[in-house]
Amino acid sequence: MQESIPAPSDILELIIRLEIVRFSVNHHVFATPRMPKRTLLRVTASRKKQHIDFTLNRNVGFRAKTTGFENLEFVNNALPEINLGDIRTSAPFLGHTLTAPLMVSCMTGGYSDALPINRQLAEVCEETGIAMGVGSQRQALEDTLYHRTFSVVREVAHSIPVVGNIGAAEVAMMKNAGGILRLVDLVRADAFTVHLNPVQEFLQPEGNTNFRGVLQGIAMLVRELPVPVIVKEIGAGISADVARRLLDAGVRHIDVAGAGGTSWAGVEIMRRKNAGEGLPFWDWGIPTARAVREVAGLKSASMPFTLIASGGITSGIDAAKSFALGADLVGAARPMLQALHRGGKRSLKNLIASWVNELRGVMFLTGSATIADLQRATLVPAATK
Ligand SMILES: Cc1cc2nc3c(=O)[nH]c(=O)nc-3n(C[C@H](O)[C@H](O)[C@H](O)COP(=O)(O)O)c2cc1C
Repeated sequence: MQESIPAPSDILELIIRLEIVRFSVNHHVFATPRMPKRTLLRVTASRKKQHIDFTLNRNVGFRAKTTGFENLEFVNNALPEINLGDIRTSAPFLGHTLTAPLMVSCMTGGYSDALPINRQLAEVCEETGIAMGVGSQRQALEDTLYHRTFSVVREVAHSIPVVGNIGAAEVAMMKNAGGILRLVDLVRADAFTVHLNPVQEFLQPEGNTNFRGVLQGIAMLVRELPVPVIVKEIGAGISADVARRLLDAGVRHIDVAGAGGTSWAGVEIMRRKNAGEGLPFWDWGIPTARAVREVAGLKSASMPFTLIASGGITSGIDAAKSFALGADLVGAARPMLQALHRGGKRSLKNLIASWVNELRGVMFLTGSATIADLQRATLVPAATK
């Protein structure tokens, strides 16, 4: 078969398109949904790289808003009637038993530098016996080039729960679960996470703001995937109303990922050419402690579900307060990444060990032998200074 020779005008168009891509990537100008597939691929990979750079090197925390955990304190139990050595922090999650109910929240994958990051995160999670999520696998749907940045997690983490990840806007466009099944296989996931991120998409220069059909897409995944679906926010929180709609759609794992930690509005505002635009949204979101309390209120014997608290968790004390508010598991993203960046695996392991130690301390001081006991511990408004 004779191959057609491109007309000079086609070649010219190709050269212009390549120049646009090169310029876009070098100058942080971003894709539009009409861009060709190859361009989208490079833009997705470049965005994931930028997210790591920004969260490590810029001040992207909430500015005026906190998680609210600092406004709560435990009641000291001076008669705990418990031996510290008998305390058990272990907890079930997705058919596994974790040494402590902690997870490294979904962060990265899909560009070359993500390989060592995901490998090291996974090694630490495996060695410490906690769960791990991978970052958005959207790029892996677009191309196989960086598949290993995701699959490496399962290569080194055999015994812990690993969860896959995709964004809400992608799910809204899906007619069936075919693509997601491939992503589940890629990391041999124990569950698959859909992240809800409307404020991020709104502020992202190349954001996809069509959220029509997200809930329907989630319900389709619940029906069609062989593993549970986790729905999480990314730092603006899930309200009781949204949680109720998710539960009605069949979701049984909710991660509130509330406000007070990493501001994804902040990250996207910084990525914009005109950073002033969007500033009023920097602190948008439901504080984590409030989101956990509200969503936990929906738990009942007839509607049990797994509640994950994340967004601004910075200590074992925050984690303990989350459990007392009704969470079953606690996740953290940026603090884990920062620890890895600061001092490698040893530093991350130290951070996790210190959180578990603080958790055990709170369990001892509240007379809680298990996480289930801690979930019944009393929190009161913190004494004022
Ligand atoms: C570098 C980085 C990349 C992230 N990428 C994703 C992602 O791909 N998918 C997702 O669901 N959440 C992603 N997140 C959000 C986190 O999972 C988490 O919900 C959020 O950062 C709030 O937690 P934190 O305050 O502990 O950072 C990312 C977070 C960081 C720090």
